[in-house]
Amino acid sequence: MADEPSIRLMADTDLSQVFSLIDRENWGWEFHEIRRIFALDTRNSIVAEIDGDIVGLITLINFGKTAFIVHVIVKEGWRKKKLGARMMRDALQNLDSLGVDNVELHAMPDAADFYNQFGFKKVEEISFFCKHRGTGGFQDTVDPPMDAEFRLLDSDETLSLSECQARMMGFHECDFQYALNTDLPECPVGRIVGGSTTAMLIARKGSDLNPLGPWFMNHPDRKTARAMLRYVIARLPDRRTDVGISSSNELAKEIFLDEGFSLMTEGVVRVSRSARAVSPFPRELLAIGHLGVI
Ligand SMILES: CC(C)(COP(=O)(O)OP(=O)(O)OC[C@H]1O[C@@H](n2cnc3c(N)ncnc32)[C@H](O)[C@@H]1OP(=O)(O)O)[C@@H](O)C(=O)NCCC(=O)NCCS
Repeated sequence: MADEPSIRLMADTDLSQVFSLIDRENWGWEFHEIRRIFALDTRNSIVAEIDGDIVGLITLINFGKTAFIVHVIVKEGWRKKKLGARMMRDALQNLDSLGVDNVELHAMPDAADFYNQFGFKKVEEISFFCKHRGTGGFQDTVDPPMDAEFRLLDSDETLSLSECQARMMGFHECDFQYALNTDLPECPVGRIVGGSTTAMLIARKGSDLNPLGPWFMNHPDRKTARAMLRYVIARLPDRRTDVGISSSNELAKEIFLDEGFSLMTEGVVRVSRSARAVSPFPRELLAIGHLGVI
């Protein structure tokens, strides 16, 4: 019998144990999302294991220049024994050696201070909203007003969205190119005027829930934003739909509440560990990506 857990890379065969540990926290993650995270990056998530039992994990996606840590969990009974700190140091050392220059994560309010010791700094607060199935809106076909000009994009157009996503979110364009190439969204909607993208909303059709975002709009106004959201939601399967927004974005909050979304979690802290200054998301970013970047 080993004395302490050893830390190793996560493997495909770990996913059901990994999901069980995540599911105990009741954060609402579904198994297919854990699969999606692993499919986006099979090489950098880690687990802590002892005698065949997974007692700690960090799931993360290295997009290239930016990495997003999705889950950090130590199993009850193993907490406060420095295992979380050991896993964080291993994961960050690995990302540093790969040339990642910004690591972000969304920390639960009571765990945000845990990340200070690794050089993470608070950037802003994030709120999560969701719309439950059967609460209307999904099956109505809502067309945009004649002057809105937004529509479903084809795959070439979607891939070219990386430039405006990078500009809006302050990340490197190569990170979005990687994400879109690896995980092309099923429902990308854009407003393209004179060859430039003036609004875009990416939605995915999950098997259990639809992740929504990122969403940005130049000079957002309530009427156009609501029409765009309805246009997208009408094209999604009638499932729970989740979205995250900057807590300070009052317009986004109003729009999601008006469209039947309800507040799920607030006070989540967006923290960043970066050599350069990281700014809060701009007002034009009405929703952030479900996995930080996408
Ligand atoms: C947060 C968590 C991963 C920390 O793992 P852990 O193995 O218990 O933490 P460690 O023993 O490595 O703690 C190292 C240091 O961080 C501090 N720390 C641990 N959890 C903390 C928290 N929630 N807030 C602030 N500081 C914390 C400890 O006090 C310790 O500091 P010390 O060395 O000065 O005593 C673990 O408590 C956990 O799984 N919690 C439930 C899931 C969760 O909330 N995950 C984070 C979501 S963002």
